[in-house]
Amino acid sequence: MSVRVHELAKKLNISSKDLIAKLKELNVIVKGHMSSLDEETAEIIIHELKPKDEIKIEAKPVGEVVTAKEIRLKFPILVKDLSTKLAVKPNEIIKKLIKHNIFATVNQTLDEKTATIIGKDFGYEIKPLPTEEEEIIEIHKKEDEPSRLVPRAPIVTFMGHVDHGKTSLLDVIRKTNVTEKEAGGITQHIGAYEVALEKGHITFLDTPGHEAFTAMRSRGANITDIVVLVVAADDGVMPQTIEAIDHAREAGVPIVVAINKIDKPSADINRVKRQLSELNLMSEDWGGKTITMGVSAKTKEGIDHLLEMLLLEAEMLELKANPHRLASGVVIEAELSRGGGPIATVIVRNGTLRVGDVIICGSHWGRVKAMIDDKGHRIKEASPSKPVEILGLSGVVQAGEKFYVVEDEKKAREIGGAKQEKIKEKTIVQAKRITLEELYQRIREGTVKELKLIFKADVGGSIEALRDSLLKIPSQDVQLRIIHQGVGDINESDIMLAAASSAVVIGFHIELIPEAEARAKEEGVEVRLYRVIYEAISDVKAAMEGLLEPHTKETITGRVEVRQTFRISNFGQVAGCFVLKGTIARSSSIRVLRDNEIVFKGKISSLKRLKDDVRDVQEGFECGIGVSEFQDFKAGDIIEVYKIEKIAKKLE
Ligand code: GTP
Ligand code: MG
Repeated sequence: MSVRVHELAKKLNISSKDLIAKLKELNVIVKGHMSSLDEETAEIIIHELKPKDEIKIEAKPVGEVVTAKEIRLKFPILVKDLSTKLAVKPNEIIKKLIKHNIFATVNQTLDEKTATIIGKDFGYEIKPLPTEEEEIIEIHKKEDEPSRLVPRAPIVTFMGHVDHGKTSLLDVIRKTNVTEKEAGGITQHIGAYEVALEKGHITFLDTPGHEAFTAMRSRGANITDIVVLVVAADDGVMPQTIEAIDHAREAGVPIVVAINKIDKPSADINRVKRQLSELNLMSEDWGGKTITMGVSAKTKEGIDHLLEMLLLEAEMLELKANPHRLASGVVIEAELSRGGGPIATVIVRNGTLRVGDVIICGSHWGRVKAMIDDKGHRIKEASPSKPVEILGLSGVVQAGEKFYVVEDEKKAREIGGAKQEKIKEKTIVQAKRITLEELYQRIREGTVKELKLIFKADVGGSIEALRDSLLKIPSQDVQLRIIHQGVGDINESDIMLAAASSAVVIGFHIELIPEAEARAKEEGVEVRLYRVIYEAISDVKAAMEGLLEPHTKETITGRVEVRQTFRISNFGQVAGCFVLKGTIARSSSIRVLRDNEIVFKGKISSLKRLKDDVRDVQEGFECGIGVSEFQDFKAGDIIEVYKIEKIAKKLE
């Protein structure tokens, strides 16, 4: 039922004019005193204009601790539905909405943000209902009853410096394990394989290199239980050995050391042990904690011992899983098969995966049509830690993606479809990495308690100097931690480690190799290059105190004067210019100055000499400049051409 303005004014004992003014204050615009108001608006007005003492104050029972009640809702939500959920009258909600300058009727919908704010006003904490996918994942996250847990095989990754023998060792391990009759099967290659020993099984991930190891981790798939660090006895600890150690440590994975190539005359096991002890990997026979042994891929010496030690280490880790539940796991690699169907190599983390199971995996789903083990055999089920190739997914999934078995095929299809849609809608939002510039903000928000750094420099001495100075910076709010340091240019592995660990990379007197630069951009990792140690220190310090100056420098590369302007049909305005100083290039960033005031900032869209498009125009020449976003050039305007550089700071 609606009410006219003048009627309501009468009821409230005020003039129509006052009421219209009041309505305007509340953002309700009416034409005049004959305009009608809907019931809800009228009620709100009555509430607003009633003498204050008439409003009953609802007293909360004394002593009751009012804690926010949590409600889970689906968005968008109708105002009236929200009112039912919050157990308040729709009007109450509408009133609150008005306070936030939102005018809605009972049949309008509210988004999550608005509903959350309103909920808070009523003492509720509103959260979105879990999506179907989240519900499924939730089922998989449910802890296992201890009685159902059984030991599972450890998943082992080999890491180490180039040519130290990772592949050779894995080959030996694989071959010694393959029995005669299975020999035909070993040509089958999948990215992981299982070795059956008398005392248990071990799953090996085929030498992915530490970049891949960390790339998986950056996607949240930390599947390695033990890292075998391979160090050649004749070569000793090398840069990538150190990288591998840091990657494994950041992942929190125990390291077993295999000193390889002990058959070589130049092998020096003690030297390697000494080098490792300096890296806090003291071998057991030297009183340390790290299982260390000599091996040879050539003579097979020590291989059995290595396998035994891996099982022992696994035993200490008490690795367990529950085979009696729906399977979940991780994709190791995926591709299109020769036949054209997508195949994925996965490792089952928990539960048992069976042929016929329906799975969701990233934005794909499917019914497992067939499973093939590492020896090329078709199998019907795969228990925890078992690597298998699966056929039947709707598309090629990504390495590191998790998969979950779903009971209901329809649900899987819906989830897969919805995710595909989402991907189409927008490119995936990247996990926000840390940068020095926003560090302070994040410290204050409490989302960052630790600043992780990776240092690379031209010589070891610089690293030590930088490290010592940085660790001396006093700070109560944030802990500085150097997760990796090394000599040499910044490579992809550094970037992947930074991405997986939310670290900032600092380079001193070195370069960022192009692949790493591309990766850094892709992953959103901040890389800072310095030429002066002091500047690196002062930047980190400033970042911790929230005083960091932006890391960009602007250079003016040209000055151009507008001499006359004309219009060209189908194109717009063109400024006839003269280059006073420097050069102007096509797609330069420019500022247009008029009486020393900036009237426009942007990019030029066309640059011509006489009638031809040109790449750039030098000092002392005339040219025609067009800017599609700015059509207001006037004779006498000055165009400043500039570039923004993001470069290493140099010594003055
Ligand atoms: P990348 O994959 O390139 O990082 O190397 P890798 O660590 O896999 O080394 P790979 O197994 O390819 O071995 C490198 C070289 O060392 C090969 O020529 C091997 O034959 C040799 N090699 C590996 N293990 C041994 C060993 O125990 N003794 C001797 N003498 N040579 C070995
Ligand atoms: Mg190899």
